[in-house]
Amino acid sequence: MKPRLHKILSKKKFEKNDIVELLSETDSVEKNKIRQKAYSIKRKKLSNAVYFRGLIEYSNICSRNCFYCGVRAGNTHVNRYQLSDKEVLEAVDYAWKNKFASIVIQSGERKDNDFVRKIDNLLKKIKQNTNNEIGITLSCGEQSEETYKKWFESGAHRYLLRIETTNEKLFNKIHPVNEEVNFASRLKALELIKKTGYQTGTGVMIGLPFQLIDDLANDLMFFKDFDIDMVGMGPYIECNNTPLSIHNNILQPLNERFELSLLMISVLRIMMKDINIASSTALQAIHPMGREKGLLAGANVIMPNITPLKHRVDYLLYKYKPGTNEKCDTVKSRLENNIKLLDEEIAYGKWGDSKHFFAKRKNKFNSATQSEN
Ligand code: 5AD
Repeated sequence: MKPRLHKILSKKKFEKNDIVELLSETDSVEKNKIRQKAYSIKRKKLSNAVYFRGLIEYSNICSRNCFYCGVRAGNTHVNRYQLSDKEVLEAVDYAWKNKFASIVIQSGERKDNDFVRKIDNLLKKIKQNTNNEIGITLSCGEQSEETYKKWFESGAHRYLLRIETTNEKLFNKIHPVNEEVNFASRLKALELIKKTGYQTGTGVMIGLPFQLIDDLANDLMFFKDFDIDMVGMGPYIECNNTPLSIHNNILQPLNERFELSLLMISVLRIMMKDINIASSTALQAIHPMGREKGLLAGANVIMPNITPLKHRVDYLLYKYKPGTNEKCDTVKSRLENNIKLLDEEIAYGKWGDSKHFFAKRKNKFNSATQSEN
């Protein structure tokens, strides 16, 4: 290993320059060293466990117009759908019976009462049908404090809301912003999620047009400063019929975005040893073993898609989305084989909550009782 890299990797805390240097590494031997360090931390702190979250893509009806996203409101080429309660509950049943132990409900963003009530009712039914045995993560965008509270009380206990990029200028280039929805509202929503008591997750896209290594280093620092519990991040992948695709000619090649995403996972794992990091589906869109490679880079969560097959092609956030015609059982057994080969183990029957979340609370409690004494 280069002495310089060795020196950085042996530091207790990374400065911004260190992160930039790690993310700028292009030599594959050196990059492997970074990954190995991250993976050994993952094994030591979180064992060889891999947690499954059954991903239910609830609806592609969306009120937002994010310039990168295939299901943006303005995309007229999308066949819009919303799953029936029966379809959701059947998917949940599959996850529960197969001991996935946790599900994620992801949806296009809507704030109207109908939507809020629908999700609320579903949460209650899911908890009831599974004897409270299924852990629920929501990924339904920016909502009011009242809605976050309502859903929390009805049984969701983790919430994912990607910041997408922490560079506000870049954020404004990839989103239409106005008085109501903008970078500040995204930050505010994340604060509210945290305050409500959710295990809080965020993430970014990697390899966006105009994005610099410096931005990605700031993203990682943000996760640390915000003291996030979970992260899901992956490569930006161009999507037809989106405004951002006019910049396809300046994108890094897909394999470079892929490699950079793996490095981001590794550097984050070194920085935040006990958080949950998802190996994103977008990694698999670029490489058939992408998610497995994400695990070896330091991730510990995989989200197998359990959306009813007939709707998968309609939830195309980006090009090359994998698994649109693969049965749940096929994916499950392939992941089982691959994960075994990595000497990792799927933690069936375990929620796999973020260890960081509970460690934080314990520390808070300890310092509160210490100051009382
Ligand atoms: N490439 C990669 N990820 C995307 N997402 C949306 N569009 C794309 C794209 N073109 C991600 C966003 C969003 C999540 C649900 O999907 O980060 O938060």
